[in-house]
Amino acid sequence: MSAQYVIAIDAGTTSTRAILYNRRCNSVCSSKKNENLPLHPHAGWAEHDPMLLLGNAKLSIEQCLAEAKKLSIKPSQIKAVGITNQRETTVVWDRNTGSPLYNAIIWHDARTVSTMETLRKKFKSEQVRSISGLPISTYFSGVKLRWMIDNVPEVATAIEEGTALFGTVDTWLVWNLSMEKSHVTDVTNAGRTMMMDIRSLSWDPTLVDLIGVSTDILPEILPCSAEFGHMADTALKGTVISGVIGDQQSALVGQACFETGEAKNTYGTGCFLIVNSGTKPKFTNSYLLTTPAYQFESNPDSCVYSLEGSIAVAGAAITWLRDNLGIIRNAPEVEDLAMSVPDTDDVYVVPAFSGFLAPYWREDARGTIVGITQRTTRAHIARATLESMAYKTQKVLEASEKDMGVPLRQLRVDGGAAVNDLLMQMQADIVGTEVLRPSDVETTAMGAAFAAGHFIRLYESLDEFRESRTVGKKFIPMITEEERERKISRWNDAVERSLGWVL
Ligand code: G3P
Repeated sequence: MSAQYVIAIDAGTTSTRAILYNRRCNSVCSSKKNENLPLHPHAGWAEHDPMLLLGNAKLSIEQCLAEAKKLSIKPSQIKAVGITNQRETTVVWDRNTGSPLYNAIIWHDARTVSTMETLRKKFKSEQVRSISGLPISTYFSGVKLRWMIDNVPEVATAIEEGTALFGTVDTWLVWNLSMEKSHVTDVTNAGRTMMMDIRSLSWDPTLVDLIGVSTDILPEILPCSAEFGHMADTALKGTVISGVIGDQQSALVGQACFETGEAKNTYGTGCFLIVNSGTKPKFTNSYLLTTPAYQFESNPDSCVYSLEGSIAVAGAAITWLRDNLGIIRNAPEVEDLAMSVPDTDDVYVVPAFSGFLAPYWREDARGTIVGITQRTTRAHIARATLESMAYKTQKVLEASEKDMGVPLRQLRVDGGAAVNDLLMQMQADIVGTEVLRPSDVETTAMGAAFAAGHFIRLYESLDEFRESRTVGKKFIPMITEEERERKISRWNDAVERSLGWVL
């Protein structure tokens, strides 16, 4: 029998790519990273053209297949398709024409503050949290959907006439890529809409009512490994789409964090620390999110939950250094520039561009830079920007340790910025624990490949998958406890200055 493969599409915030995996779930070849250009029509707004997201998914598959061909791998050897995606980003389209009724509102878009406040008047955030695991926040898809109904006449009319469909990016892609036009999602994406009951893993009538829609426009919720549909008119025609999982949960799977208490931190556009919290949802006192981690079997009891600390700005701050300040030409340059100075000279950059998510949940925060003196250079700003990711991660790690009731022995890291050795050393110093970087940092696509391959029984065992993962580099804390505490306390002071900036 010829070798079998799984292809995973990683539709992230910044770019989309496709990666091909072999029988051991190791990557074989990949497409380019195709940029998902964001649109910022107003300050604090962030949108994607849904057609660009779709076009980039198709292009990524084509490019990956072209690379596979060079290795003499035929499309017929690709047995399953997995999709992982930026979560919460909201799309509404017409079920008859397939046309989007508005641009996709990106997860970190901050336009929905007044919608959120209106919802908070109707329902206490704690009540919503007790059902969905999430507080009422601008972050989640339900709030974005409500904003569209109130502000986009085309969306309101289509909902009234029964022609609208709602989805997150996974749903939008599967609907378009599948020959069945399947209107589906998985538990990890549905769990970020603020409309799903986290215990029953189904749409909750009270929350659906709070958003003011009917379940007719919502996709069917499936496990992460399931028959989502079959590929329509590409070289992969007829291949089953059998894995869908939100990108952060997908990275948790890619890092093989299958035991309670195991955690990973992904440095993408944002930064997301997720701890596996076991087979029952764990509710938190520290304002972390309670969210499904993965579900590989159809039985709802097989769902594994997690606690998540979501940080809106990580790699986005490096993009800001490049595109807005122009102090670097490309992202990798930031490491050399930051290393050209021994420290930040007590400068702190707080890149709270559209408020703070976990664990502060403050929409009224905005970015600030403190401690600038006559001798501050762009190198200090670059170094302090990198360091901000480490501080923000420390804050959510502290919160998750409190909620889990045990200290974290090590932190597994991945994502684009995890290749930056300086940042990883800063991270180990600031959290005071070992940081482990896998040899393949593209764990996000790997999780979706695992979910898809698990459905077709190409990857049967979680243990076998775990054993085949390897650590690339370990970072050990190098600063004293006293120095660590001093730095964290200065960071906390800097954050205080950014809170409440928006009146
Ligand atoms: O919740 C948003 C998250 O899924 C986006 O991830 O990697 O595109 O920044 P990323």
